[in-house]
Amino acid sequence: MSKNAEEIIKSHAELFPPLQVKLALKLCSNECDQGHLFSDWDSTSRGDDEKKKKMMHQLELLDKNYQPGGLCEYIKNAKKLLKHAKEGQNPFDGWHPSVPKGENVEYGSKKHRELEKIGLKQAKKTAFVLVAGGLGERLGYKGIKVRLPVERATMETYLGLYVKSILAIQETDEVVRTSGQKIDVPLAIMTSEDTHAMTVDLLESNDYFGAKKTQITLMKQEKVPCLVDNDAHLALNDEDKYVLQTKPHGHGDVHSLLHQSGLLKKWKQMGVKWVTFFQDTNSLVFRVIPGALGVSKSRDFEFNSLCVPRKAKEAVGGIAQLTHTDGRKMTINVEYNQLDPLLRASSSDGSGDVNDPATGFSPYPGNINQLIVKLEPYEKQLSKTGGAIDEFVNPKYKDSSKTAFKSPTRLECMMQDYPKSLTGTKASVGFTVFDNWVGYSPVKNSPEDGKKKFDDGQPTHTATSGEFEFYNCASRILRLAGANVPEPEIDSKQKFNGMSFPTGSKVVLSPSFGCSFERVESKIDNLSLTAKSVLIVEGDVSFENVQIDGAFEVKAEKGSKIVLKNLSVKNKSWEWRSKANAKEEITRLCGFEIKKKETSSLLYSEKNKTLVVDGDLSQLELKTH
Ligand code: UTP
Repeated sequence: MSKNAEEIIKSHAELFPPLQVKLALKLCSNECDQGHLFSDWDSTSRGDDEKKKKMMHQLELLDKNYQPGGLCEYIKNAKKLLKHAKEGQNPFDGWHPSVPKGENVEYGSKKHRELEKIGLKQAKKTAFVLVAGGLGERLGYKGIKVRLPVERATMETYLGLYVKSILAIQETDEVVRTSGQKIDVPLAIMTSEDTHAMTVDLLESNDYFGAKKTQITLMKQEKVPCLVDNDAHLALNDEDKYVLQTKPHGHGDVHSLLHQSGLLKKWKQMGVKWVTFFQDTNSLVFRVIPGALGVSKSRDFEFNSLCVPRKAKEAVGGIAQLTHTDGRKMTINVEYNQLDPLLRASSSDGSGDVNDPATGFSPYPGNINQLIVKLEPYEKQLSKTGGAIDEFVNPKYKDSSKTAFKSPTRLECMMQDYPKSLTGTKASVGFTVFDNWVGYSPVKNSPEDGKKKFDDGQPTHTATSGEFEFYNCASRILRLAGANVPEPEIDSKQKFNGMSFPTGSKVVLSPSFGCSFERVESKIDNLSLTAKSVLIVEGDVSFENVQIDGAFEVKAEKGSKIVLKNLSVKNKSWEWRSKANAKEEITRLCGFEIKKKETSSLLYSEKNKTLVVDGDLSQLELKTH
């Protein structure tokens, strides 16, 4: 016990509620060894009393939020993990990797269609969880990532796209007919202090994007204290000795929040069978969710990780089954820098992570952290563990003595580590692989970092790639559905923030047009687009013998239908023009602006009616911008 600190706290005791005094004394105990937090306090002056009260309040909250065990448990865990990190311990020592079970699905194939059918029937029994508490430091955007536009043709935000995708799933025949009534598919959003208020504002200012307010639940994750050294001393703010430095604890908090909020129990009572987790910026994820739900159902996976093909040694975590020398098994995400050494150590020829000659990819697929979990066993398991997820620490040391950190660190946890808690059980854990073009297009990097990745030949994961990949995915789906849409091409002379990308027709298929491949396919009967074309389609619209060479926006409001027949739409279209160093933030992140020259448009909103446009262009409005 730090005598000095203990006396200081006692001399201030009348300032604080007894529980706070008790906590402070516990923190000064030999076990916690946090006397430094108080040893600088001046007992003779009352000038800083308000600041001291705030600090005690902050400590109380940090203690309450880290459960089970509170701050002392956090410090104990931190000491243990910091010791392991210093010793360079590999968390997977004693484990041997092998290829886990899973399904490789080719989008648009017969197998995919069958899986989507099965998956859509499960959709009415699915709850969605968006983890959106991250700071997004790498992107360097002032707002929250879910407020970013997915593309600038319509300016739809990520959150808008996600909510509308869930609403579209909820409206499908498979869901409506098999439920016998309209149901509200639930969405939970995990926010943090950094994102909460802006997320609420985004939802409210957009009228919840058409969802019912009661359909969406927000859960706020709290931060954890930072650590200054290997003895897990908590960090005080450089500018204010009465404030503790804190940082996010990672997306693994989502499990304990779902448990503590009682949502899992509530969903179970509502008949929910699956929980689907996804991240703040992946505009393609809802293209693959129905098929992946089909895999979860048909293979009865308790935990299904959505993956993309991964080249051997590529810097992406791989899903692997690990078997311990004592017989325990788990199927888990293994970071690439741990996977290769594990494979080397356990193979007879020391070959490590190598591509399978048949596919050209590593047999350990790349985890994209979109997860589908079976609710019943998940809820049961969390009742036992409280949702606690194995933590890790990643200190950046000043030098090889590993005694001092460059800056304070903290414990973190990741949502994909949940299956670690299933080790030794019979839980069925597997994966579903879809190609990158249809399943994964995150926006994580600033233009400057994206450029470095571009120069290295890696995916840039910038706002620019996010936008073009979104259009290119929709174009490819149209091609698979029989439409004639040119393949995107790279024009190396056209650079956006110094990077070039495959570009072609700009296609936006809103979720209400079709949330499964079959649904999109059923709307297309002879459609062709030129490379300079823009097609934005929303609602129940079908195309029969339609040629587009220009910009065309067509929207059937909910409850109405448009049939387009024998049409040839031609106008000057829109142009994506490079623009460097723009003042406006989104333009700066994308590196372009859109010059709209001419647009043909059609909007129909008569309820329960069908508008047939047969060869008559006069029904379309031509806008010159
Ligand atoms: P990212 O890896 O993109 O991290 O998170 P980040 O914190 O958002 O961005 P950087 O690293 O600062 O650039 C993956 C997903 O997990 C969520 C993010 O919002 C994103 O959807 N996340 C991350 C949380 O919800 N909480 C966290 O503490 C961290």
